[in-house]
Amino acid sequence: MTRVLITSALPYINGIKHLGNLAGSMLPADVFARFQRAQGREVLYICATDEHGTPAELAATAAGQDVRTYCDEQHRLQHDIGRAFGLSFDWFGRSSSPPNHRLTQHFAEVLESKGLIEERTDKMVYSVDDRRFLPDRYVEGTCPHCAFEKARGDQCDNCGNLLDPTDLINPYSVISGSRNIEVRDTRHLYLLQTQVEDRIRTWVDANAANWPQLTRSIAYKHLDEGLIDRGITRDLAWGIPVMKDGGPRPGFEDKVFYVWFDAPIEYIGATVEWAEATGGNWERWWRTDQGANDLEYVQFMGKDNVAFHTVSFPATILGSEEPWKTVDRLKAFNWLNWYGGKFSTSERRGVFMDAAIEILPPDLWRWYLTANAPEGSDTAFTWEQFQSAVNRDLADVLGNFVNRIAKFAESKFGGLVPDGGEAGPLEIKLISDLDAGIADLTAQMDAIEVRKSAQALRALWVLGNEYLQAAAPWTAIKTDPDRAAVIVRTALNLVALYARLSAPFIPFAAERIVAAFGLEEPLHWPRNGAAEALSTLGAGRTISAPEVLFRKIEDEQLAAWAEQFGGSGQA
Ligand code: MF3
Ligand code: ZN
Repeated sequence: MTRVLITSALPYINGIKHLGNLAGSMLPADVFARFQRAQGREVLYICATDEHGTPAELAATAAGQDVRTYCDEQHRLQHDIGRAFGLSFDWFGRSSSPPNHRLTQHFAEVLESKGLIEERTDKMVYSVDDRRFLPDRYVEGTCPHCAFEKARGDQCDNCGNLLDPTDLINPYSVISGSRNIEVRDTRHLYLLQTQVEDRIRTWVDANAANWPQLTRSIAYKHLDEGLIDRGITRDLAWGIPVMKDGGPRPGFEDKVFYVWFDAPIEYIGATVEWAEATGGNWERWWRTDQGANDLEYVQFMGKDNVAFHTVSFPATILGSEEPWKTVDRLKAFNWLNWYGGKFSTSERRGVFMDAAIEILPPDLWRWYLTANAPEGSDTAFTWEQFQSAVNRDLADVLGNFVNRIAKFAESKFGGLVPDGGEAGPLEIKLISDLDAGIADLTAQMDAIEVRKSAQALRALWVLGNEYLQAAAPWTAIKTDPDRAAVIVRTALNLVALYARLSAPFIPFAAERIVAAFGLEEPLHWPRNGAAEALSTLGAGRTISAPEVLFRKIEDEQLAAWAEQFGGSGQA
C-alpha cells in the first residue's frame, strides 16, 4: 500500500493529557506516521479533541467556564502541547466542529432509514435535588460486576466493563453528591446493535487476523457476550443536536447525541476539516468508492477504547451500508501505571504533558515512553527507569557516539568529511551488521512492535560504538592517516544514518544532527542497504559537532522530581 491513514484515539478535552495517554495512543501513532513518511508513503495522520459528553461539561464547570470557552481554550492547549512533543498530526481537529455535526447527523439519519434506530422510552437516573437527569459520568456508584465503589455511569475503571447509569448500585450525583436518586422515564434513540451483530462478527472474522492479540481478544469478548441495543442520545445541553427532517427532533430539544456516538465519526470529521483548510480531498481517504480501497487504515488506542472501535463504531459504519473505509490494523495498548495506581486526569495523579516538557526536552520522554511502551502488559512508570533510559541509551550510547566522532572530525580534519583510504574488514563487517539490524528495525516498525523497534534501534547505535572502539581512529591518525580517514568518514556517515533511523523516535535530536551535518530533508529510510547509506556524506563536505545532544539526568534532579510529582517510595 502506498497510502496510510493513521488515527490515534481522540483525547478528551478535559485537561492536558498525562504521559499514559501519550504513551498509549498519540506517541506510537506519531512514531508510526513518521516511519511511514520516511518510507515514501503518503500519510494522513489525524487526531482531534473529543469535546462532548459529561467529561467536557464536568471539567468546564470545575474550571468555572462556560463549556464552549473551555473547549476553545483546551483545544488550543492540547494542540500546542502535542506540537511541542513533536506529534506530527496532519490535522488536529475538534469533535465539536461543523463537519462532525453534519456527519453525525447524517449517520443517524441513514441508520434510521435502514431501520437501525428506534425511539424508546427509557428509564434514566434522575437526581431530585439537582432537578435533572444524570447521564454517564454525572452519576457514580458501585460496579455490579466487580463491586468497585467509584464506578462511573458509563464504564467501570476497575474492571473495564461498559455500564449504564441504571446498572450502578447505590448511585450518587457527581454534581451534588446527593443520593436522592430516582429512575424516571424519558425518550431516547437506540442504535439496534443486535440487528448488525452478524455483520460485525463477519467483519471482525475477516479482519482480526491483522489485529494484535489484545485487540482480538477484547473484540471477541464483547461479541461473545452478545451485543445490546445502545442508547445514542443523552439529556445534556452540550453536544450535537438531534434532528429530524431538517429541524430539531420533537421531544429531543434538550438532548444531544451520546459522545461515544459522535467521537469516532470525528475521525472522518477531522479529515473533512483538514480538507476544508488545505484543499485536500477527504473522500479519497474515507470512501471506498473514491479511492480509499487502496490504502491501509491503522488505528492506535488504549485498551479501554477497543470495544468502541471493534463493535460500536463498526455498527455505525457497517449499519449505514455506505462505502466507508474501515480499520485494517488496530493497535491497542495496556496501561502505563503510576506508583501504586493509575495516572489519573480527574485526580491529577502522575506527570502531565505540560509539566513533563517544562522539566525536560520532548525527545527524552518520547524515547522512554516508546522503549518502555505498555505493550505486552501494563507497565509501571518509574523515575529510575526513566533516568536509565535517558542516561544509558540516549546519552551514553547515541549521544556519546555522535559527540565523539564529530568532535574528532572537527579537531583532526577541520570539520571536513575526509577523503582517501578504502574500506577494510571492520567496515565490511559493520555494513553487514547494519544491514541485518536495519532489516530487523524495519520489520519491527512495520509490525508496530514499539518496544522491539526501540530495542532494534538501540542495537544499531551500539554497533557504532563497537565499531569506533575497534577501529580506534585516535590511534590510526598517528600511524596511518588514510585509515583514519576511512574510519572518520564511515563514522560520520553512521551519524547521518542514525539521524534517519532515529527520527521517528527522537525527531528533535535528528533535527539537530541534520542541521549540524547539513543533511537533506526529508529524511528517507535507507532502503538500498547500509553500503549506500554510508556514502551519503561525500568527502569534502563540512560538518560541525552539534551541541551536547542529551544531557544526563543527575540523581539530585531525579530526587527532586520524585518529590515534586509524588512518585517516590510508594511503588
Ligand atoms: N476520548 C476517548 C478516551 O480518551 C477516546 C475517543 S476515541 C474516538 O477514552 F474514536 F472515539 F474518538
Ligand atoms: Zn467493575
